[in-house]
Amino acid sequence: MCGIIGYVGKKAAAPVLLEGLRRLEYRGYDSAGVAVLNPSGLVVRKKLGKIDEGIARLLKSRPVTGTLGIAHTRWATHGVPSDTNCHPHLDASGKIAVVHNGVIENYDALKQKLIRAGHKFKSDTDTEVLAHLIGDDYERRRAKNAVNGDDNTLAQAVCDALREVIGTYGLAVICTDFPDTMVGARRGSPLIIGIGKEENFVASDANAIVAHTKKVVYLNDYDVATVTSERFDVQNLGTETANVQISKLEFSQEDAARGQHAHFMLKEIYEQPQTIRNALRGRLDFEGATAKFGGLNMTAAELRGIDRIVIAASGTSWHAALVGEYLIEDLAQLPVEVEFAHEFCYRNCPLEKNTVLLVLSQSGETADTLAALREAKRRGHRALAIVNVVGSTIARESDGGIYMHAGPEIGVASTKAFVSTISILTLLAVHLGRLRHLSAKRALDVLRGLEELPKQVEKILAQNDALKKVAKKYTKAEDFFFLGRGYTFPIALEGALKLKEISYIHAEGYSAAEMKHGPIALIDKSTPTVFLVPQDAMYDKTMANLAMIRARQGPIIALATEGDKAIRKVADDVIYLAPTLDLLNPILASVPLQLFAYHIAVARGCDVDKPRNLAKSVTVE
Ligand code: AGP
Ligand code: GLU
Repeated sequence: MCGIIGYVGKKAAAPVLLEGLRRLEYRGYDSAGVAVLNPSGLVVRKKLGKIDEGIARLLKSRPVTGTLGIAHTRWATHGVPSDTNCHPHLDASGKIAVVHNGVIENYDALKQKLIRAGHKFKSDTDTEVLAHLIGDDYERRRAKNAVNGDDNTLAQAVCDALREVIGTYGLAVICTDFPDTMVGARRGSPLIIGIGKEENFVASDANAIVAHTKKVVYLNDYDVATVTSERFDVQNLGTETANVQISKLEFSQEDAARGQHAHFMLKEIYEQPQTIRNALRGRLDFEGATAKFGGLNMTAAELRGIDRIVIAASGTSWHAALVGEYLIEDLAQLPVEVEFAHEFCYRNCPLEKNTVLLVLSQSGETADTLAALREAKRRGHRALAIVNVVGSTIARESDGGIYMHAGPEIGVASTKAFVSTISILTLLAVHLGRLRHLSAKRALDVLRGLEELPKQVEKILAQNDALKKVAKKYTKAEDFFFLGRGYTFPIALEGALKLKEISYIHAEGYSAAEMKHGPIALIDKSTPTVFLVPQDAMYDKTMANLAMIRARQGPIIALATEGDKAIRKVADDVIYLAPTLDLLNPILASVPLQLFAYHIAVARGCDVDKPRNLAKSVTVE
């Protein structure tokens, strides 16, 4: 979940590393550090806190020189966030520095073994154990046979250590004996090599290096790379030869910049008219009254042969999966089951012969979701994916898939990727439906409705000031409900998650109908409810549910369809959505809920782009 960047070249490493850390900060931000090699040896600087207040200040007051270095921004798994637990960690000799993303599951057993051999540890992290292990293996190799100065010795020592390790890692290692070499390795956590001119990089995320190069190699699991300023070699721990392919990054530094907006989250909310267009581009087939995709890698006959789809995802993507279930069952009459990716993997869920797994992931790196994909493939099932990050592990390991083309999503709270995922799921439902019973007329209605969405979202964005005013009224609330029925039920769940994540207000999403079965006990004057009550098939029933909340004096903020005057009489505040098909309401309703959460969080003084305890892209199980 953390960010890693390493640099080797002719430039001063520290500024490159610091800039890279800033671009990676969304991946973890409890502490950060760098290790740079210069003629006086290995210099390590690390500091608790976000980058600007921590490591950046430290490097300003105590600069480091050197043209080889590695850096890390941490999201703690083992040991509290502190200066000591912050990476890089050194081996026993102090010659080797390691930054690591992931979890070494057998770290305690390895630590006890090393302690028995006389090692002393400074931190509580699993990573320091790995550093000592690599150091031990390095000394052993050096003593035995290797010639000092052969950069392979370091890579071989890393391989030796990793053979003992159970768990996940993306890591970068440097050693005082090799002033022009970094070793990188991955298993479960992403790592790429960035190829420059007389300089090379390793990074956990392309954002860190896109300002320097667009030529990258995505490492595969068990790859161990030796990177110098002039070349790189990749070996694989499992197979004899590594599969190395050079790819080109499809986004620019500007795409990953905040621009005029106060926060990445706000920028990404505002990008949604465009990201919806990107999701639809080239995929609407009005002639065939269907949607078309380039990368599903399944024939029409194979798609028709599917008996059931299991959708596995995590967090916000799991909410998108619920919308997907409603869409595919409605339009294609194909049974769908939605699973939390982590539950799917370990609960021995039956998968019948013609079941296909579909995973949804913005990052394409979520460990739980990746594990679900691998589990389905291991069991011989086809696994498809809807992913945003091009070249990500899930994108590469799936049998076929659809890219969102939403551009980098930096805000930790997912917004535009959620809306893109649902837009694509709508297209997929049309596609599957047209291979079964869906009429051309209904399919065309959906396609036309989709085409209208960007403009309708723009209208919602134009209500930003009004939404801000409404949000301000409720900044002191400590509990919230979000309620919807039918197609907007999953959006109620997502609205509650957005508010929780960035404002730290306790919020619960429910089906509006479910309230009367228990949760309504919590309603009083100080517990506001956001009601999703568009004029859809469920309108009358949802209005009846709303009356039940009203009768218990709960304040009500309603999301209703333009022209609905009745709602004004029963809600304290109303936000209007353009009229659309029932099945497209999830997309429209998402946007005001994102803005609502955003404004409440800003008013409460929260750091919306870097909410406490969270990090973008959860690469640990
Ligand atoms: C969303 O706001 C999150 N912070 C989180 O729930 C996220 O959606 C989840 O971790 C899944 O991420 P993915 O889409 O990158 O797989
Ligand atoms: N497990 C390591 C730690 O707690 C790495 C965590 C991370 O990925 O940031 O330090």
